[in-house]
Amino acid sequence: MQNVNFPTAPPTDRHLGLRGRWGFAPRRARVTGMRMPSVPPDASHLGSVGKAVYGAVTRTTFRLASAARATPAGRHHTAPVAPSTRIVRHVPAGERKRFTMATVTYAKASRIYPGTERPAVNQLDLQIGDGEFLVLVGPSGCGKSTSLRMLAGLEDVDDGAIYIDDRDVTHLPPKARDIAMVFQNYALYPHMTVYENMAFALKLRKTSKSEIDRRVKEAAALLQLEEYLSRKPKALSGGQRQRVAMGRAIVREPQVFLMDEPLSNLDAKLRVQTRTQIASLQAKLGITTVYVTHDQVEAMTMGHRVAVMLDGVLQQVDTPRALYDTPSNVFVAGFIGSPAMNIKTVPLTEQGGSFADMNIPLTREQVEAARAEGGDGKVTVGFRPEDCDLVSPTEGGMPVVVELVEDLGSDANVYGHAALEGVNERFVVRTDRRTMPNMGDTVFVKPRTGQSHVFHAATGQRI
Ligand SMILES: Nc1ncnc2c1ncn2[C@@H]1O[C@H](COP(=O)(O)OP(=O)(O)O)[C@@H](O)[C@H]1O
Ligand SMILES: [Mg+2]
Repeated sequence: MQNVNFPTAPPTDRHLGLRGRWGFAPRRARVTGMRMPSVPPDASHLGSVGKAVYGAVTRTTFRLASAARATPAGRHHTAPVAPSTRIVRHVPAGERKRFTMATVTYAKASRIYPGTERPAVNQLDLQIGDGEFLVLVGPSGCGKSTSLRMLAGLEDVDDGAIYIDDRDVTHLPPKARDIAMVFQNYALYPHMTVYENMAFALKLRKTSKSEIDRRVKEAAALLQLEEYLSRKPKALSGGQRQRVAMGRAIVREPQVFLMDEPLSNLDAKLRVQTRTQIASLQAKLGITTVYVTHDQVEAMTMGHRVAVMLDGVLQQVDTPRALYDTPSNVFVAGFIGSPAMNIKTVPLTEQGGSFADMNIPLTREQVEAARAEGGDGKVTVGFRPEDCDLVSPTEGGMPVVVELVEDLGSDANVYGHAALEGVNERFVVRTDRRTMPNMGDTVFVKPRTGQSHVFHAATGQRI
């Protein structure tokens, strides 16, 4: 269903950045090519994997970033002092070419809502690089929106701090932060045309007519809205309205974009299309973006890096690939990936984890780590549905009784159960269509060597 009830009140993002920090949004050098996130000013908050990721980013970008910070203004410099890997669009003569640095840093930032005991966001430590697309993901109620609203200035920060670049914005009002936000309910003004909707915030800022016109037309071109500029919202499809909401944020030329589940009003097909559009738009604009979703597929397909939260606590932040390959704990392992990883807590032997008659081998170090601190003779082992094979009964697999087969066309998901210590445990295996079993069959499942994930049985931490 599309949202047909437009409130007459101004959109909820009216508080944000009506006047930029400069009284106008600085015209910046634009990026036309895909841009790698640069190194955050202080990488000490990143985990070792995060550092490695950033370490791989070209040194020239880093030098450029450092040079930009070294200028008296703190954020701009007129000429790159080092060769840049960024591709900068031609800027009309006479206009100063500027780079806008916009890293975002959460430094042990917490939010405890009045009348509650448990923090909604608990000591969040997170560094977001300039130009990076960072996705905050986690189940409903884990604190994603609160984290975003703390950055926007719509929610108090009760402890810790938040920085944009090296500017402490912890207690600045929203409009002083130079950010633009797209909400789930992106209410457009119903009585205004698409053009007027996009121009509205700039008008309030008293931007010149010609500048407004330039920005609106530029955003309309980017969003393929040129032919709809004179339409009212009610004459637009859901996807087009969503793009107008994006356009309203883009024309502000903010330092940082914040998006809170902006696709949730769209139907499934449009959501997939639009997520591709948003990702490529972000790459084109190169504006640091924090994007919130509860959908792990959206997170994995859109983000340069993905931050997984649970109960207000950041669990892991890393590239989609690294999250998938080396989840740092049981929660992340189970949350990322579909169908979910098979994760079971089983008896620990000298050789490894014992799944009834099947042994999943562990290294000596893993066995020792599993024994430490309350491991209690158990170990938690996980393997992804695609990381195992169906083998013949003599090859040491685990017997699984098939309950359901999902034929996906290209391959198939086989769901079933196996008895572990007298309890039926569920398993899912992805298999080739040609070897697809039938319901009621018993198949023998064997995880591929070296493809299992091992976690401490009590702490859930990866070992
Ligand atoms: N205004 C509020 N007052 C009290 N508790 C709130 C308020 N807003 C959110 N919460 C609680 O804070 C937690 C995080 O909420 P939220 O950030 O909205 O989660 P998410 O966006 O991840 O679904 C939830 O437990 C929620 O119930
Ligand atoms: Mg939310």
